[in-house]
Amino acid sequence: MRPDGLRLSARHRVWLHSTFALLFLSGAVWWVLQRWFQVETEFGPHPHRAQRWLILLHGAVAMVALIIIGTLIPLHIKRGWQARLNRLNGTLLIAFIALLTLSGYALYYAGSDSLRNTANDAHTVLGFALPAMLLWHIISGRRARRH
Ligand code: HEM
Ligand code: HEM
Repeated sequence: MRPDGLRLSARHRVWLHSTFALLFLSGAVWWVLQRWFQVETEFGPHPHRAQRWLILLHGAVAMVALIIIGTLIPLHIKRGWQARLNRLNGTLLIAFIALLTLSGYALYYAGSDSLRNTANDAHTVLGFALPAMLLWHIISGRRARRH
């Protein structure tokens, strides 16, 4: 963390961006394999071999990502809020991540098929939009600070 707490240190930034990149890639590649690379067997289509470890990786990295988001609360989010910089966009990003997390949780635990399908669709759409949301937040935050 830099002295003013709002901008991240180089190390913090590397942790955040590499974790988010791995989270995105594990989810996105799993989805591509599920959709276009099912293996045909005599019992019908079967998941690609890599899907199993990709989803294990995804679940594990999701937990690390939540820790990293937590590390932003005491300085980054607090300082941004106090300085009245990027408040709306930051709140939107938090709400967006909350929905992503909630839909991921429902994928684990949803009992009914219809809830699971809704969670699945929501999680996939939100997941693919995450990089754009983060980029928008950073651009809008830097602009707010410059003004
Ligand atoms: C904070 C962010 C995220 C959290 C907490 C999260 C969490 C989860 C969890 C708990 C699962 C269920 C794992 C299982 O069924 O074993 C899951 C599945 C999945 N996630 Fe994420 N995820 C996040 C971000 C993303 C992103 C960025 C993508 C990008 C495309 C993504 C795509 C997927 C896909 C495709 C699945 C498999 C869906 C299925 O089982 O049908 N997720 N995620
Ligand atoms: C209400 C909540 C939030 C506020 C008010 C806020 C505010 C800001 C501001 C003002 C900047 C520009 C800093 C600069 O001048 O470089 C910024 C950048 C950034 N924000 Fe946020 N933010 C919030 C939540 C979040 C969340 C939840 C995340 C992560 C998931 C996040 C990740 C980032 C990152 C990675 C940058 C770029 C920082 C850098 O490269 O040093 N922020 N934010």
